[in-house]
Amino acid sequence: MFYETRDNKHGLPHDPFKSCIVPRPIGWITTISADGIANLAPYSFFNGVASDPPMVMFSSNGSSANPVKDTLANCLETGEFVANLATWDLREEMSRTSAAVPPEEDEFLLAGLETAPSRLIKPPRVKSAPIHLECRYLQTVDLPCNDPGGRNALVIGQVVGIHISEDVLTDGMVDIGKLKPIARLGYKDYTRVDEAFTMTRPA
Ligand SMILES: Cc1cc2nc3c(=O)[nH]c(=O)nc-3n(C[C@H](O)[C@H](O)[C@H](O)COP(=O)(O)O)c2cc1C
Repeated sequence: MFYETRDNKHGLPHDPFKSCIVPRPIGWITTISADGIANLAPYSFFNGVASDPPMVMFSSNGSSANPVKDTLANCLETGEFVANLATWDLREEMSRTSAAVPPEEDEFLLAGLETAPSRLIKPPRVKSAPIHLECRYLQTVDLPCNDPGGRNALVIGQVVGIHISEDVLTDGMVDIGKLKPIARLGYKDYTRVDEAFTMTRPA
C-alpha cells in the first residue's frame, strides 16, 4: 500500500504513522515553572541527537485547545529539564503522569513518585528511575502544524549531567537486561527492551 500524507487517506482503521517509527524511546521529562512548581510528563517524540556534546530533543505537539504544554512552557521559562528513563517497573506511574492536569497539580503526587534533587539544575529527578539526564535548554524549532492555533515545537537540550544507578551496571556497562526500558509503539502499544545483540561495524 501507499498513501500521501497530505490527505492522509490510508484506508486503515487507524493512522499507521506512529507504528512506522518504532520503538520510540520515552523521555519522561521533569521541568519546573518560574514559581517553582515541578512538572512531569512522558514524551515519545524523544531521542538523542548528538553525543559531543550530548544533546537530546523532544517534541511538544499542542492542539489549539492547549498549544503550549506545561513542559514546553517551563522549558521556555526556566531553561532546564531532566529526561528520566521510563522502565518496565515504572510503566504505570509513567502512564499516570500523562494525564492532562492543570500546571499547579503535582504529577509526582498523582503518580505516587518521590523526587530526588538534581546536581546541576533545579528540576527534580524521578528518584526511582535508574537513569537521569540533566539538561539545559538550547533552542526550540517551531515545526509546521496542521491544527490552526496548535503548536509543534521541537525542543533541544544539552545534557550537562548524567546519573546512572549502580543497580543497572554489569562490569561497568549499562545492562539492558537490568535496565528494562519501555518504548512506545503505535496505537496503545508499548514494548519492553531487555535483549541485545551485538554487531561490529565494518572496518
Ligand atoms: C508514552 C507517552 C508518550 C507521549 N509522547 C508525547 C509526545 O511526544 N509529544 C506530546 O506532545 N505529547 C506526548 N504525550 C502526551 C503528553 O504526555 C500529555 O499531553 C501530557 O499531559 C503533557 O503534560 P504537560 O502539559 O505537563 O507537559 C505522550 C503520552 C504518553 C503516555
